[in-house]
Amino acid sequence: MKGRAGGLMRAWRRGGTTAILVIAAAGVLRAGGPTAPGPRQEGAVRGASLTSAEECARCHVDIHRYWKASMHAQAAENSRFQAQLEELRSKGNAEPICVRCHAPAAVYLRDVRWEKKATWEGVTCDFCHSVRGLRADPARPFVLDVGNVKTGPLMGATPVSHGAQYAEVYTSSDLCAPCHQYVNERGFEVLTTFAEWKASPYPARNMSCQSCHMRAASGRVVDPKVQRVAATTVNLHEMPGGHSVAELNRALQAQISAVRRGGTLDVTVTFVNRGAGHRLPTGSPLRSIVLVVDADGAVGRRQTATRTYARVVVDEHGKELTDEVTMWLKGGRVVKDTRLAPGERRVEQFSFPMPRGTPAHAVAKFYYRYMPDAAPRGETGQPFLSIGAWVDAGGR
Ligand code: HEC
Ligand code: HEC
Ligand code: HEC
Ligand code: HEC
Ligand code: HEC
Repeated sequence: MKGRAGGLMRAWRRGGTTAILVIAAAGVLRAGGPTAPGPRQEGAVRGASLTSAEECARCHVDIHRYWKASMHAQAAENSRFQAQLEELRSKGNAEPICVRCHAPAAVYLRDVRWEKKATWEGVTCDFCHSVRGLRADPARPFVLDVGNVKTGPLMGATPVSHGAQYAEVYTSSDLCAPCHQYVNERGFEVLTTFAEWKASPYPARNMSCQSCHMRAASGRVVDPKVQRVAATTVNLHEMPGGHSVAELNRALQAQISAVRRGGTLDVTVTFVNRGAGHRLPTGSPLRSIVLVVDADGAVGRRQTATRTYARVVVDEHGKELTDEVTMWLKGGRVVKDTRLAPGERRVEQFSFPMPRGTPAHAVAKFYYRYMPDAAPRGETGQPFLSIGAWVDAGGR
C-alpha cells in the first residue's frame, strides 16, 4: 500500500452518530484532498478535490459502466461544447455560465484551469454524491460537502471504505432541477424540463425524474469481490433520454391510416406523448421531432410532407437562434411551441394527389433532431419510429 493515507482510520461525530471510516487504499477518497488531511470541515470546498470516477469504478463497477455511457459523462468533453467554450473564452468571461452545469467541479472547486480529472468528467459521481442539499442561489445551487462521506439513496449502507449517509434529495426531482431548469440573464427560460414535469400528472403519481431515467437495471452496487451486499439491481446511471432510440420509442406512440378519396390519398397520423414526463421534445430549444410522411403510388413519383415539433426562440431583434451559445446568452422569447405536452395526443392530416386505379401506400417516419446544423450526414436526424399503411387500387 502506497501513499500516506493508507490504512489511516478516522472517526468523527455528526448528528449524534459516529461514523468510522477506514481509508483502505492509497490516494482513494482522500478527505478534502492532499492539503486537508484532517477531519472534514463543513462547507469548506476550497482546496478540496472531487475524486475521479475511475476510483469509484474500482468498487462500483456496474454503476460506472452505465454512467460512462451517459451524456453526463460527456458533458464537459463534448467536442461541440468545448468548441463553444473556446470561442467564449476568447471573447470574455461568459464561461462560468456554461461550466456550472457541464463541468461543475470547475466552478465548485475553483478549478479554473481545468487541471483536475473530475472537471473533465463533467457531471461526475463525486459531484452528485457530495451534494448535501440545495439552496436558492441560481449561480451555486448545490450545497456541496466534499470529503469521505458519500450521500445517496440507501438507508443503512455499510461501506468499509468510505462513509455513507442517506439523503432524501436523491430520490427527488429537486436534485436534477438546478441543471435542467434555467433562466438566462434576460429572464428567458432556456431549459424548462423541471417545470414541464412539475405541471404534468407525474408528480401526483409519485414519478420523479429518477423513476424513468434511473429505473432499476441489472447490476451490483458493489463488486462482490470487494464487499457482498444484498441488492442485485442498481439505479440506471446511463440516464437515457433523447439520445436513446429505445427511450424515444418509449416516449411516442403512433398510428397511421390512409384512405383514397377521388384523386387523392388522405393520410392521418395520430400520435401521443405517452412516455415522457415532460414535453416531447424537452431540454435544449434546439431539439426537435420531425415527422416525415411519404406517399407512393405504383406509378408516379414519391411525394413527401414534413412537420416539425419544437420551440422556436428568437433574440431581442426577433432573429431565430440556432446554436447553444446565442440560445443560452441571448434567448429572448418563444415565438412558437409545437411540442407535445405529457399525455397529449395529436392528429395530423395530409392529402396527396394519387391517381385512381393503382395501389398506394403511405409511410410515417419520426426523427429526433438534436440541433439544426448537426444532423448526421445531412440526414433529417436520428430515425426512431416508422409505420406504414396501404390502400388497394380500387379504393373507396
Ligand atoms: C446526476 C447525478 C449522479 C451522478 C453523476 C451519479 N449518481 Fe449515483 N445516484 C444518483 C441518484 C439520484 C441515485 C438514486 C436514484 C434513486 O434512488 O432513484 C444514485 C444512486 C447511487 C448509488 C446507490 C446504489 C443504487 O444504484 O441505487 C450508488 C452506489 C451510486 N449512485 C454511485 C455512483 C457512482 C459510482 C457514480 C459514477 C460512476 C455515480 N453514482 C454517478 C445520482 C448520481
Ligand atoms: C473500496 C470500495 C469502494 C470505493 C472505491 C467506492 N465505494 Fe461507494 N460504496 C462501497 C460500498 C461497499 C458501499 C455500500 C453498499 C451497500 O451497503 O449497499 C458503497 C456505497 C456508496 C453509496 C451509497 C450511499 C448511501 O447511503 O446511499 C454511494 C453514493 C457511493 N458509495 C458513492 C461512491 C463514490 C462517488 C465513490 C468514488 C468517489 C465511491 N463510492 C467509491 C464501496 C466503495
Ligand atoms: C450538474 C448538472 C446536472 C445535474 C445535477 C443533472 N444533470 Fe442531467 N444533464 C446535464 C447536462 C450538462 C446534460 C447534457 C450533456 C451533453 O449533452 O453534453 C445532461 C443531460 C441529461 C439527459 C439527456 C440524455 C440524452 O440522451 O440526451 C438526461 C435524461 C438527464 N440529464 C437526466 C438527469 C436527471 C434525471 C438528473 C437528476 C437525477 C440529472 N440529469 C441531473 C447536467 C446535469
Ligand atoms: C414518465 C417518464 C419520465 C419522467 C418522469 C421524466 N422523463 Fe425525461 N424523458 C423521458 C423519455 C421517454 C425521454 C425521451 C424522449 C425525449 O427526448 O423527450 C426523456 C428525455 C429527457 C431528456 C432529453 C432531452 C433531449 O433533448 O434529448 C432530458 C434532459 C430529460 N428527459 C430530463 C428529465 C428530467 C430532469 C426529469 C424530471 C424533472 C424527467 N426527465 C422526467 C421520460 C421521463
Ligand atoms: C442550467 C444548466 C446549463 C447551462 C447553464 C448550460 N447548459 Fe448546455 N446543456 C444543459 C443541458 C441539461 C443540456 C441537455 C439538454 C437536452 O438534452 O436537451 C445541454 C446541452 C448542451 C449542448 C448540446 C450537447 C449535445 O451534444 O447534445 C451544448 C453544445 C451546450 N449545452 C452548450 C452550452 C454552452 C456553450 C453554455 C453556456 C453559454 C451552456 N451549454 C450552458 C445544461 C446547461
